[in-house]
Amino acid sequence: MEDTERSGSASEETHHYVSHTSLSSPDAYAANPRFRQLQEELRYVLFTAVASHGPSRCPSPTRTGSELVETAASKFWKQSLDSAQVPIPKARLIYYLKNWITECAPHLDKFDENSHFGVQIPILAQNSPSLLYAILAFSARQSERKACFKNSRDSLELYQESIRLLTPYLQTRDPNVLMTACILACMELMSVSARGWRRHVEGCAALFDSYMINGFSGGHLQAVFWCYARMELCGVIISDGTESTVLPLDKWVPQEATVGVSPDKKEDQIRDLFYAKGSSTPDMHANWAVYLCTKTCNLTCRRSRSVELGEVDQDDPRPFSEQWVRLWEELQFWREHRHPAMLPVKATSMDDEQTFPNILFAHWAAISGNQLYHTACIMMLEMKPLNIPLSSSSPYCSAIWHARRVCGISLTNPHSGSLINAIQPLYIAGKLLTHWDEHLEVARLFRTIESTTGWGALWRLRDLEQAWGYEANEILSAI
Ligand SMILES: *[C@@H]1O[C@H](CO)[C@@H](O)[C@H](O)[C@H]1NC(C)=O
Repeated sequence: MEDTERSGSASEETHHYVSHTSLSSPDAYAANPRFRQLQEELRYVLFTAVASHGPSRCPSPTRTGSELVETAASKFWKQSLDSAQVPIPKARLIYYLKNWITECAPHLDKFDENSHFGVQIPILAQNSPSLLYAILAFSARQSERKACFKNSRDSLELYQESIRLLTPYLQTRDPNVLMTACILACMELMSVSARGWRRHVEGCAALFDSYMINGFSGGHLQAVFWCYARMELCGVIISDGTESTVLPLDKWVPQEATVGVSPDKKEDQIRDLFYAKGSSTPDMHANWAVYLCTKTCNLTCRRSRSVELGEVDQDDPRPFSEQWVRLWEELQFWREHRHPAMLPVKATSMDDEQTFPNILFAHWAAISGNQLYHTACIMMLEMKPLNIPLSSSSPYCSAIWHARRVCGISLTNPHSGSLINAIQPLYIAGKLLTHWDEHLEVARLFRTIESTTGWGALWRLRDLEQAWGYEANEILSAI
């Protein structure tokens, strides 16, 4: 970075940062009054827009093709950055744009073969200043976190500018506002402990609902949807079976598949939809794993509400054990029908020296996709009804087998986008591990994720320390 004044104080900042996080005090960014104010402002802007329009079908996604590319790209960047209303030197804005393309977008494009965030969104941003400032804000925040700066002036300035410019677009009911809203929500989630996830995603959920965009809408809005869906999944895992998704699962798929059909038929239709798309494109197969894992959380939540709180399940009249078997079969169907690119190119079984298996994937969609499959299996096995027999000789029926694979996948595949997605799976899997060596290895992974990606991960390691029965920071200080 060309900003010497900042890099000069980096080590001091690092020191502050480290002591700050290790005290597990509330995140400074979340506590920053300006951040809180902007976050509320964004929610207000989004909800007001949705309320004033009411539901209606959105026009088909706008074309992203060559017409847009031809709008004198380089000239645009120059003009829009020259006339920028933010007190940030242009060179730094260009640095943030570069950082978006090289560091941030690949994190969000983790499954997407078309790299919508890295390629299409910068193109669309040429005609949408609000989107441009959203990507700059995200990138600035990611740089600030990665370099451990306590100073977050740039990202807040850019965040504010993006919200300011968003309002006129909301009035024209342009579905592209979803990209801005979603990138800003991701930025919020990256920046602060994800426990307040609902507040960050509610605005986006209202927009997806109002514009009727779902996981099969096609093009860049579909890509944005799955980015959103991963935030939802992260949220429901954190809620530990107590909360539902903000956007109901039925709205993740086209309405035709879910309205007015029995639960069995609905499940058949949804499976066929995913299977039809996923058998040719690994990224859709991975999105399917996001869906199935979220569905597992949905079942966990409904189970705890009906079994533990005695509430009647309004959504599904089938007995719990029947629903469980059905979802278990769907998960195994997912595994058995993986696209060749979703299979490991090399996998070792465990020997005595190894704590976790090596499972190497060539396609990046396979990394998170398979990891989420194993995560869902762990959650399923933890709530398996006693009267359902599973073959005890099959590894698929062993939660600890799945847990070791979750960890092995992250250790073998250092793709940073997938590491971000691994935080919650590692927590679910990590809880089952009982040995000190395993704990250390998982703890190192959490530390690597936080230091290499800029995403907050250590707060989850602290939850694991507690689950493992250690004192606070006992593992953290041992690695
Ligand atoms: C489960 O998913 C259904 C279908 O979208 C939804 O209606 C229901 O509210 C969800 N329940 C929970 C607890 O997540």
